Order: sequence, then C-alpha cells, then structure tokens
Amino acid sequence: MTAAQIIRRKRDGETLPPTEIRSLFEGYAAGSVEEYQMSAFLMAVCFRGLDRTELDALVEVMIASGAVADLTHVPGVKVDKHSTGGVGDKVSIVLAPLVASLGVPVPMMSGRGLGHTGGTLDKLETIPGFRTDLSLGEFAAQVEHIGCALIGQTDEIAPLDRRLYALRDVTATVESVPLIAASIMSKKLAEGVGALLLDVKVGAGAFIPDHAAARELARTMISIGSARGCHVVALLTAMDRPLGFAIGNALEVEECVLTLRGEGPADLRDLVLEQAAEMLVLGGAAADVDAARVAAATALDDGRAMAKMGAVIRAQGGNDAVLEDPAILPQAPVRHVVEAAMDGTVTRMDVRAIGEAAVSLGAGRATLGAAIDPAVGFHVTVKPGAVVARGEPLATVYAGSVEAAATAASRLASAIVIGEAAEALPLPLVLERVTG
Ligand code: URA
Repeated sequence: MTAAQIIRRKRDGETLPPTEIRSLFEGYAAGSVEEYQMSAFLMAVCFRGLDRTELDALVEVMIASGAVADLTHVPGVKVDKHSTGGVGDKVSIVLAPLVASLGVPVPMMSGRGLGHTGGTLDKLETIPGFRTDLSLGEFAAQVEHIGCALIGQTDEIAPLDRRLYALRDVTATVESVPLIAASIMSKKLAEGVGALLLDVKVGAGAFIPDHAAARELARTMISIGSARGCHVVALLTAMDRPLGFAIGNALEVEECVLTLRGEGPADLRDLVLEQAAEMLVLGGAAADVDAARVAAATALDDGRAMAKMGAVIRAQGGNDAVLEDPAILPQAPVRHVVEAAMDGTVTRMDVRAIGEAAVSLGAGRATLGAAIDPAVGFHVTVKPGAVVARGEPLATVYAGSVEAAATAASRLASAIVIGEAAEALPLPLVLERVTG
C-alpha cells in the first residue's frame, strides 16, 4: 500500500488497520513518506477522525519512535501536567517548580507554540542561557537532584510527535481530538511519569472549543493513560478569555516571575493553585485537594516555589537574575496602547483572533522552523464583563516596529468586543474535573 493509497482511504472515511497506520508513520519517521503526504493525511484525520484501534496504533508508533525515560531511580510518584493549549496559558512555568518544592518530582516535557497558542519551550528559551534540549540522562539526573526539569522533546523522546507537532502548527491540522490525544499522551507516556494532570481548555480560544467535545478529548486521553498504567486526571478550564494579562513569550515569563513573587494576576494564581492541588494529590503528597491547595498557596507565598525555579534555571544554564529583574528578558522597542473606542462593557473576546494577532506579530511561527521574536506580544488588561469608558486602555502591544504595532493594535481592538451588555457569562475558571 503506497502513502497515497493510505491517504485516499482515510480521506474516504475508511478505518485503517494498525499495519497501515504503522507503515505510514514509520515511513514518515524514516523519510520515505514526504512532509506533503503527511500534511494531507493529517488533514484527512481532521475531517474523518481515527477510531480507537487506529488511535492506539498511532500512540504506540509515536512512543516507539524514541526511548522511554527511566525515572525509576527517583523516589516517589513522578507527576507531570500538560495543557491542550491556550492563549496566555503560562501555568506550567509557575506550577512545575511549585509542585516540586512540595516534594513531588515533576519531569516536564513541553512543546513550542502551536497554531494560535504559545508554547512553554519558546517562553522558557527567552530566559538568557536557558537550555531546553537536555539529554535524557541530564533530564533524569536533574529530576533526581532538583525534583524538576523543564525540557522539550529531544531526538530521544517521542521524536515523531516533535515533527508532527511542528508540521501541524503550520498546516491547520491541530484541531482534531485523536491528533491532540496522541500527541500529548505519547510524549507523556514516554517521559516515564506515574501520573498526569491534563488541563483541557474550553471556549473560543481552545483548539476544541466545545465543552462536550473537550470532555471527550479528556476521556480519550485518560483512557490512553490508564491502559498504559498512568493515572490521569483532567480539569476542563476556561479559554473564553486569555489567561492572565500577558501574551507573548518574554512577557509571559515576566508574568510568571510576578506570580512567583505573589504579584501576578488573580486568575493565573488561582489556576496554578487548582492544578498544583491536583498534582500534589496525584503525587501522594496530600490527602485531599483542599489541604493540597492550602499547602500550595503557602509554598507560593513563602518563596519555596521561587527558590525551586531558581534552582531549575541555574541547572539548565539560565540566568536566574531574571527572578530578581525580569527586565533582562528581551524587550520590544515599540509600545502601543489600545484604547476603548466607546463607553460600554466588554461583551466578548475573540481569543483565537488575539492569539493569531500575536503569532502575526512574531510571537509564533507561520512556517516550519521559522524564528520567533521573543519580545513581542500583548498585555490585555480587560476581561469579559469589564465596564470601560471611551479612551480607557484595553491593552498594550509590544512590537518590533511602529507598523507592526499599528496592525496588531487594530486586530486587537476588533477582537475585544465592546457593547451594551455581556453576551454570555464568562466560563468558570474550572468547569469540570474528569477522572477515569
Ligand atoms: N499540546 C500538544 O502537545 N499537542 C497537541 O496536539 C496540542 C496541545
């Protein structure tokens, strides 16, 4: 069976046997299936989906494309967290050191920007010197000694996902329940964790905006994990507005530093604490989420999470002075304030458009392997329901040029919709908890 025949069969809605899934993806990994053929197949999956047998075959090929990390020498339940992706979702950078500071090992493997959303790796790499390309050996040693490592996929761990992720980013093939589930679960299972918290976003800025479909995504990932001995819990969380204020790589790291200092936006802090509580229970460090939330808030407030982040940054070659002085992060030369054009209420935010405007500004990639501008992005300081007066600042654009700032500002002004009254109540920060 040629690649074109397999693509055609999926395009026409057939179910492929595991052998064909394996042959296509192994061929892609080996270089005999081309990028354009894989792009076409991924698009067919976006329309036709994958059934459970096909999905399991894909997960297995993706895990087998690299090594599986052995963290058995690290005592305790190793717990990671992964988000399905959101605009301004910077939780991991605060969460990982926080949970590790309470004794639960966090081996965290993250991704780059995807579609209209940012990626933890791109954000971390704005810290001068910070290496995300640790080898598997360095990763395991760091988790053992510091309790936390924040890395990207190397050639060793699920390298097939790394290639597919980059390809999906620039071919509009992210929005698929099986592709997202396989991508996330293959790298998490290869990472050697015992438990996993999933943050599945819901709302206009999510890849799968619909609540019921997001629940299906959560359940799919939970069952992939359970079938392979990984305890998975999912929180469905709000993405009908950006999380926090900052959108853009260095700007988001700065907001994380503020949050570690107790000065960050309330929604970011609250979501970090909710997720930390779940991870502490999964890691056996707390009996219930209420006790865990209190422990997490204490470790955030008394500087333990900040100290752990400093240790992680130093261990990964970064300049930990960023925690004292975030101004050492890349700075954009141009700032442009976006003002409300009329009196009214922020009735709705087109979160996807806001994320896309950030990508166009240079915070994300339009083509495979393109460079990003670490300094650019937005501070969006209003949320749905806010009452604003004409001329009041809604957001600030951080850009590389006056022209780029003006274009982004006009996109932002259209994406923050002002009207008479809110169209719908904002989603609760945490909509639902899904377990096996
Ligand atoms: N995060 C991932 O790692 N993969 C996806 O496909 C979406 C979000």
